[in-house]
Formats: sequence, C-alpha cells, structure tokens
Amino acid sequence: MARKIIFATNNAHKTEEVRAILGDGFRLVTLRECGITEDIPEEQPTIEGNALQKARYVHERTGCNCFADDTGLEVEALGGAPGVHSARYATDGHDFEANTRLLLHNMDGVTDRKARFRTVIALILDGREYTFEGIVNGIITEKPAGSAGFGYDPVFVPEGYEKTFAEMSAEEKNAISHRGRAVRKFAEFLSGLKN
Ligand code: IMP
Repeated sequence: MARKIIFATNNAHKTEEVRAILGDGFRLVTLRECGITEDIPEEQPTIEGNALQKARYVHERTGCNCFADDTGLEVEALGGAPGVHSARYATDGHDFEANTRLLLHNMDGVTDRKARFRTVIALILDGREYTFEGIVNGIITEKPAGSAGFGYDPVFVPEGYEKTFAEMSAEEKNAISHRGRAVRKFAEFLSGLKN
C-alpha cells in the first residue's frame, strides 16, 4: 500500500509537479486534506531553515511524515540577495513584477551578473530529518524576456542557454531547474527506501 506523506505547501502547481515525479509509491496529501488552513510560518534567516521550520510545523501538528520546500534567488554581486527574501524583496506581498524591477534596478551598471536559484526540500520521515538541495547557475539579464513561468524567470538565463526560464516550456525548465533537481534527489531517496 502507498505510504502517506504530507507536502507542506498550498501551491497546487508544485503539488502536481511533485506528485508526477514521485509516482505511485507515495500518496501525497495536501495541507487542506489534513486540516491545516493557516499560513505556515517561515521566519528563518536561511532557505534550509525555512524549509525545516515548515516541515517541523506540520510534523508537530499531525505526527505524519511530511516535507516542505523553500527557494531563493542568490545574486553574487548583491552578496546573495534577495536569497531567503526572494518572495518579498520589493513589497510584503508576492509581487513578481515589482521584485524583478527592484532586482534590475539594484543591478543597474553591475557587470558581474552571476546568480543561482537554490531550492532546499526538508523531509521528516519516521521522526528523522533529511534535506535535499537543487541548484541551477546562470546570469541575470539586463531586461525581462518571455512570459512563461513565474517569479524571476523573465530575467534568469541558465548556464549553457541563451534564453530565459520564461522563454522555455515547463518541461524544458523542469529538466534543469533548481526545484526539478531537488525534487528528483528527494524522489530517488524515497524510491530507494521502498526496495
Ligand atoms: P518559494 O519558496 O518556492 O515560494 O519561492 C520563493 C520565491 O522565489 C518566489 O516567490 C519567487 O519569487 C522565487 N522563485 C522560486 N522559484 C522560482 C522559479 O522557478 N523561477 C523564478 N522565481 C522563483
């Protein structure tokens, strides 16, 4: 029988993405299905800290196996900013356009445009904690291009490519993205447990 595991997110798009990669061995349960409707706190100063805080919050309330993810865009010339503050860089809301505008403004005249997306997945399984990291290196463009994806996708060109994430199909992006890489590591770990 498939084991139950809770994904500590309210993002339906992420849930479907992970469900597709995990396959039949695990039954992915949403927060709503286990009665958690409030926003889960993410107040830590690091991406891994936030992923762990979200997983622990759900584990403490349900006692069930669960996992959470957290992502940030880390720009070298900005000392790793916006990093853990990526979602609320420009405003308190998740205003993708304002965030991107502020990023380009802060990089005005900056020639070193190296950046990376980093995702950490924190898993609590049978009471033990594990983390899985996915990174994609790239550069920040001078101006936005493309309309697919979300967040900083229109200004991020991954290494080895000449187009932004927002100019790629979802499949093309997932094959090389930070989140895709972290989810595949996580899925490999889980599938190894079943054998
Ligand atoms: P979250 O932890 O997945 O919610 O990501 C935090 C923030 O990072 C989001 O609000 C976006 O601004 C940014 N972000 C995360 N993943 C991506 C991505 O794949 N492309 C562009 N921006 C992203």
